[in-house]
Amino acid sequence: MATANSTLFTPIRIGQLTLPGRLFKTATAETRATLDGFSTQAVIDFYSLIARGETPLIITGNIYVCRDGKSAPMQLGADDDDKIPGLAKVVDAVHAHGGKFFAQLNHCGRQVIPRFAQSPVAYSASDVKDLLTGTQTQALTVAEIQRLVGCYADAAERCQRAGFDGVQLHSANGYLLSQFLTPYTNRRTDEYGGSLENRSRFHRQILEAIRVRLGPDFPVIIKMNGSDWLPLRDGLKTGELVEAAVVFERAGFAAVEISVGHYESGFPMVCGTFELCLRHMVEGSMSYLPEPRRTLLRVFRPLVTLASNLLWKGRQGYNLDYTPQFKEKLSIPVICVGGFRTRDAMEAAIAQGKCDAVSAGRAFIADPFFYRHIRDNQPGPHCVDCNGCVGHLGAQPAECYHPSVKAEKDAMLAREAA
Ligand SMILES: Cc1cc2nc3c(=O)[nH]c(=O)nc-3n(C[C@H](O)[C@H](O)[C@H](O)COP(=O)(O)O)c2cc1C
Repeated sequence: MATANSTLFTPIRIGQLTLPGRLFKTATAETRATLDGFSTQAVIDFYSLIARGETPLIITGNIYVCRDGKSAPMQLGADDDDKIPGLAKVVDAVHAHGGKFFAQLNHCGRQVIPRFAQSPVAYSASDVKDLLTGTQTQALTVAEIQRLVGCYADAAERCQRAGFDGVQLHSANGYLLSQFLTPYTNRRTDEYGGSLENRSRFHRQILEAIRVRLGPDFPVIIKMNGSDWLPLRDGLKTGELVEAAVVFERAGFAAVEISVGHYESGFPMVCGTFELCLRHMVEGSMSYLPEPRRTLLRVFRPLVTLASNLLWKGRQGYNLDYTPQFKEKLSIPVICVGGFRTRDAMEAAIAQGKCDAVSAGRAFIADPFFYRHIRDNQPGPHCVDCNGCVGHLGAQPAECYHPSVKAEKDAMLAREAA
């Protein structure tokens, strides 16, 4: 299949960067760093393969900007200058293949199991307990918010010094910036709560601080929800999130990537099936939950699996339910993540004007050469949305855990190496 008339392989600009194609690797936490957040050869190997697949833009898994923003063991950090040399090696490995590389900057806020991440305290916009993890939070003071603005800017500067081509602020999926945006988790009455102007102040201050350090041309993009998916709670609906995106565009973000849901939503972020996922999760990260949550999850796992399978069936491009509304109001690129597996579906999404580019996570975990295979119409290991990788999040490396897909991946990599 030719690339000449393909919407997927026409160049796109993000800020000052021009990318040759419109299928990107979205952020997936690698779980390959050292326990104190330094990069390893395993991180380099993970991204080298995806870069070898000629992927035009790769976004790292979420990197913590300071120690209290860390959500899991073996997560990459950009919290100190001593992390720069290790990050630079990963960037060099990606650049050796010609791809562009963004670092995703994050503070987890209340979405953390403190015993799991060995974090001292869970901060949030307001003191609203996370219903899934039971994590009790501490509302940030204005002085602490200012400290965190500095942490984001420091981390962005470290990433720029390591050679990254841009950064993405993680304001989706219920992490700290998302907690500030959402009235359910932001009940503040000061200049960071209430109106959209106030709830987006933290984001805008971070962007301004990064601009002061790194100038106007360093691309800063943002990941946000198309829907908070928080039924019966005061979560944001698409229209309100579009309004927030308009504020972000005006502030100077160079692109938005649209995802969905918080931890408390369940699994709208990763539609598919959940047997493997929940089995691994209950034995892994969730085993750090306090009693009786752990017991409840063990006992009700079959029921939760059944309900999740029904509620969040796998389908391609599930966040296209939201992106057209963003496209209507924005002139910066709108990137849609979620369920993309085939060239036809990705091309159609762009050709129909529902988004400007697409990104994928699990498809690249199953097949690091996903981009090249799609472009050249070659077969490769095909993600079946079993969500085994999600089940191992934070506990084992992000890897394909589906036996036959993984066997196919291993055989492909062995052939490549021969
Ligand atoms: C193993 C794993 C780790 C993830 N880690 C992150 C992350 O660090 N940051 C983020 O924004 N999203 C993360 N996600 C969500 C993905 O970016 C993406 O939204 C989701 O996987 C749906 O896209 P897909 O169907 O292409 O996989 C993760 C997903 C998986 C499967």
